Amino acid sequence: MNIFITTREGDSQTAALAAQGTLMEAIRDSGFDELMALCGGCCSCATCHVYLDEAFADKVPPIGEDEADMLDSSDHRRPNSRLSCQIVLSKALDGLRVTIAPED
Ligand code: FES
Repeated sequence: MNIFITTREGDSQTAALAAQGTLMEAIRDSGFDELMALCGGCCSCATCHVYLDEAFADKVPPIGEDEADMLDSSDHRRPNSRLSCQIVLSKALDGLRVTIAPED
């Protein structure tokens, strides 16, 4: 599957990867070290904050209470904000466009 990743600076890159693991791992493993993911995916840091393409909004699991609480701590939260460590990849997300959110 492919996902299209846009950095904070607006550079875009396609990442070809297996439909496994989380979106956070996929972005990080594709070489985007600006996605800090400090807590390692425990939903306790919000440094894996991304904006998802709205076209995929109904293809990802609904936002959880813990995730929503963490996103509330960000000054950059938008309606399409998600924590990428909470998005498990599947083939349904092939073609997903994601932008790394500004650092808080
Ligand atoms: S990696 Fe820390 S909340 Fe996602």
